[in-house]
Amino acid sequence: MQVILAEEAGFCAGVRRAFKIAENTVSDDLHWVTLGPLVHNQAVVDHFTAQGISPADDMEKLAADGIIIRSHGIAPQIIANLQEKGIIINDATCPLVKRVHETAALLTAQGYEIIIYGDYDHPEVQGILGWCNNNARVIASVDEALVMPVVSKMGVISQTTKNESDFYKLVAALVPKAKEIRAFNTICSATLKRLEAARILSRKVELMLVIGDKSSSNTKTLARECQISGVKTQLIESAGDLIPAWFKDIKRVGITAGASTPDWIIKEVLDRMTQFDDGAPQEQTQQGNLSN
Ligand code: F3S
Repeated sequence: MQVILAEEAGFCAGVRRAFKIAENTVSDDLHWVTLGPLVHNQAVVDHFTAQGISPADDMEKLAADGIIIRSHGIAPQIIANLQEKGIIINDATCPLVKRVHETAALLTAQGYEIIIYGDYDHPEVQGILGWCNNNARVIASVDEALVMPVVSKMGVISQTTKNESDFYKLVAALVPKAKEIRAFNTICSATLKRLEAARILSRKVELMLVIGDKSSSNTKTLARECQISGVKTQLIESAGDLIPAWFKDIKRVGITAGASTPDWIIKEVLDRMTQFDDGAPQEQTQQGNLSN
């Protein structure tokens, strides 16, 4: 069985940066927390919890010296609240998410009705809403766009991990809904590169394994992209989820991983795969670099 790793897979630059910031924050003297999980991956959260940095969800009951803002970013009102409480802030917001915040704030200041293409409950979207003074409409599908009322000025932005072609369809559906429309493609290139690499690899294999947390938006988008290409696809969180029966009579397996999946989990999966070979020599082809 040949196992091929996608050209782009695993930690993106934003998550890698957040991981490093958190590692440099580990302290014996101060109590640090993250506001919500640092990234959408339980293994990463457990890694830092073991070193004393755990997620806190309730701002009101927050009892910490310092807080790490996670890669998804947060609303400016929450930052102000933390500053008022004298809590030290270590900002691990991905710079690309920050760019969405700036665009949202600019469009708000210029009086545009803002449409965010994204999932309302996703922490990144919740953060972006704050940069629009909580005065924006979150849309998750073209169907929702079609029933929107007509407005005079509309600004459209996207959650960074959304599918680009779906974003274009959404913008096309919104064009008749405003006299003036400005659309900013704020989908990040790491997401696009991982999707493209997964798409290419899906055409060459009989089975795709997508490694990532089931709560991770970009992992789910990757799995959907593989399924759309018609290949059998399994979404797994770790090597423990692998089922030997999946590999019966399979000659080529492709592997990709979400942007918040750490290298050590990908390596564990690759190692475990050697046990599912049916006796033929196993070949592992690493197209990508786990450090990308
Ligand atoms: Fe940033 Fe894109 Fe990663 S927005 S956190 S580089 S998926």
